[in-house]
Order: sequence, then structure tokens, then C-alpha cells
Amino acid sequence: MSETATLELNGKRYVLPVTVGSENEKAVAIGSLRDTTGYITLDDGYGNTGSCQSEITFIDGEQGILRYRGIPIEELADKSTFVEVAYLLIYGHLPNRSELRSFSDLLTENQNLHEDMKYHFEGFSSMAHPMAMLSAMINASSCFYPGLMGPASRDRFNIHAARLLAQVRTIAAFSYRKSRGLPIIYPKRAYKYTANFLHMMFSEPYQDYELKPEVVKALDLIFVLHADHEQNCSTATVRMVASSKANLFACAAAGVCALWGPLHGGANQAVIEMLQDIHDSGDDGSKFINAAKDKDSGRRLMGFGHRVYKNYDPRAKIIKTACDRLLETLQVSDPLLDIAKKLEEAALSDDYFVSRKLYPNVDFYSGIIMRALSIPVEMFTVIFAIGRMPGWIANFKEILDDPKSRIYRPRQVYTGRPLNHYVPLDDRP
Ligand code: ACO
Repeated sequence: MSETATLELNGKRYVLPVTVGSENEKAVAIGSLRDTTGYITLDDGYGNTGSCQSEITFIDGEQGILRYRGIPIEELADKSTFVEVAYLLIYGHLPNRSELRSFSDLLTENQNLHEDMKYHFEGFSSMAHPMAMLSAMINASSCFYPGLMGPASRDRFNIHAARLLAQVRTIAAFSYRKSRGLPIIYPKRAYKYTANFLHMMFSEPYQDYELKPEVVKALDLIFVLHADHEQNCSTATVRMVASSKANLFACAAAGVCALWGPLHGGANQAVIEMLQDIHDSGDDGSKFINAAKDKDSGRRLMGFGHRVYKNYDPRAKIIKTACDRLLETLQVSDPLLDIAKKLEEAALSDDYFVSRKLYPNVDFYSGIIMRALSIPVEMFTVIFAIGRMPGWIANFKEILDDPKSRIYRPRQVYTGRPLNHYVPLDDRP
């Protein structure tokens, strides 16, 4: 017999069905609660709310497990590439040789922006943050593809998805060049996804950037590790917008905005700024740890803590090892890495962090890798957005393919003033 839950309200008992996921995660289904009882559930910040059923990514936050389509992140980090992982997330299985080739070719064919997009770039202030440009330009590029809207858009999903995935990287690199007043560098057909991004970021019209394999590999790893993370703030935003049947580019632009905040993707930039402040102030980290524990200080140990992981974030473990390896290969010594390690050690032996199960998350060490790759700090969250694009696209597709999908429309508990009436201006105190 399938499991049920019983709820008692005002002496009446209601039986609620329990939904069980493929990893035995259990949820009390309350979809008919208001109709049958007049009550809704209240869950500020959605910490305990399953907003959907999804087949894409599995996380066990207690054990520190992350899997894309059932495959452990450690295996993908070790053996796969970003383009292959993107295919896996979007289409649900690892591509065979011919599928991978067609997918890569589709990305290459669609990597150029419409030439008129350059006029949009010209409109930005040189002080514009690249995340603002990224979001605006993803939306702007949709204007060149009228087929994105309407019922036929479903048949064109593959091409729209490839365009978005290929062009987000082109837009990101152009945004960076624009923000530095540098000439735009176009993508090259011969280069693969990540190498092409580095080329567009760092080549000059008179000299190609030297693509070191270890640098390309390190950035590709960052993309792989960020590719999806189930219903985080930005992905839930993408699904929210997609539920209204908005087009894929509009959904992705919304995802970029949600990602930007320092409590989410913006944390990678905030971590480096924090480490730099600690370094510049001559603190060895201990003063900062005390400030992070003091709620009145307005400080938090950025790159620490996670809504779902109550154990070491598996991505942080992989990044930390990759960081050590890369810095050694490039023979770079970064004082911020030493500070980060000291902070980690201090936090992991401090009761404040231990009792709250606060561990390093993906952002704690990723910024040190990006610094070593000469990626400027204001581009860190943009790199995250490029990496997260396959996850957003896969979540969009799940909604697109679901004939039962409904518009996302949470309810609220109103706590404002009861009925009162309009007072003409002259009669107001
Ligand atoms: N430093 C100090 N204290 C912290 C931190 C931190 N980084 N994170 C959480 N806490 C404390 C809170 O003050 C709270 O303490 P209390 O119980 O005494 O009130 C407790 O730990 C629980 O924290 P919440 O904010 O309720 O946890 P929530 O799940 O809402 O937030 C979040 C998770 C936003 C990630 C939080 O840990 C945080 O702000 N971390 C720093 C920012 C960061 O690294 N964000 C990146 C997250 S990963 C990602 O999005 C890719």
C-alpha cells in the first residue's frame, strides 16, 4: 500500500498522498489542501518545499552527493567535458560519438551573434557590470529570432538551445571586452567551446592568446561543476518564468539576474573581495572569523554555508584539489589561497560553523582558480552563468515537454491592514 500522511485540523482528519522519488526522497503532496481544508502551507524561503518533480539532478545534502542524470559529479569532473555534460543534462543521456559531433557542430554554427548586436553593446556605460550586460544581451539577442515565440518554438527547441548555449559565451566575452574598452574578438570555428571563450576574452586583433591545455581544462572543469544544481534560486527562477510560457532566452535572462546576487552566484566575486580585504588589512583571518560570527557585524564568511549541503559541498572538494594542482602547474603563488585555507581550517574547528553545519561551498575556491586564469573578478559570476546554462536549458525543457505543466503561482498569507477606505487628499492628516 502506498504511504500516506494524516493531517488533523480543527478535529477533522485529512489523508494526504506521499510522493516518493527515485532516491527514496519523500514529499507530502499538498496540491489539494486548500480545496479540501481552506488552508495553505507556509514556508518562507521555500526551504521545505518541493516545487516540482525533476529527473535532471540529484543532491543529497547530508551526505554531500551530487549527480547529473544519475552520474556522480566526481566521475564527470574527471572524465567528461562541458559540452558533453551539457548534452547529458539537456537530453538525458551521454551522447554517442555521432550525437556529440552533431551537437558540437550545432554549437559552432550558432556561436556568432547577429552583427547588429554590436549596436546594443555600444549603448552600455563603460562602468556597466558584465552581469547586467549579459542578462540584457541574452534578452536582446532573442529579438533576432522571432521563431522563439509561439507554438512552433517547441519543434525548434534544439536550435534555440544550441544558440543560447553557444552565444552566452560570445556575449560574455564581448561584454568583458566592451567593459575594458577593448576591440571585440570573434569566435573561431577551429576552437572548441572553452578554448574559444578564452580566445574571445584574451586574444588581440594582432596576436592570438596562447591556449595552454591546463588553463582550458581548469576552466572547462569550472563549467562542468556549475552546470546544474537542481532547484537553486536561479534555476527556480528560470522554471518560474518558463511556466508562464515565456521564451527560452527570456527565461535565461531572468536566471542571470537571480544568479547575480551575492547570496547565490555573486558569492564567488564576494569571496575574493573578502579575501582581498583580509589580506590588505593584515588580518590572518581570525578577526574576520569573529566578525562573521557576530550577527551585528553585517559580515558573513562568503563561500561558506549552503541551503542544501549540510556537509562538504562535493564541488568544493574537487575545486580545492584542482586549485592546488593548477597553481602548482602554472607556478603561481597566491596569498589569497593561503588565507582561504586558514579561514577554512579555523571555521571547521569553530563551534559556530560546526554546529550550524557550515562548510565551504563551490564558490570558496573557484575564484582562486579564476584569478590564476587571469579572469577579472567582475567576470566570475558571468563564468558561473555560462556554466549554469545547460542546467537552465534542461529545466526549461522539462517544463516544455510536460503536458501537465501549470503556471507557477505561489500563494501568500496576507499580514497587511484589514479593509479601510480611500481618504481624499485634503482630509488626510
Ligand atoms: N557566515 C556566517 N554565518 C552563516 C553563514 C556564513 N557564510 N551562512 C549561514 N550562517 C548562519 C546564519 O547566520 C544562521 O545562523 P542562526 O541560526 O544563528 O541565525 C545559520 O547559519 C543558518 O543560515 P541561513 O542564512 O538561515 O541559511 P540559508 O540556508 O538561508 O542560507 C546561504 C544559505 C545563503 C548560502 C548562507 O549560508 C550564506 O549567506 N552563505 C554565504 C554566501 C554564499 O557563499 N553563497 C553561495 C551559496 S552556493 C551558491 O549559490 C552557488
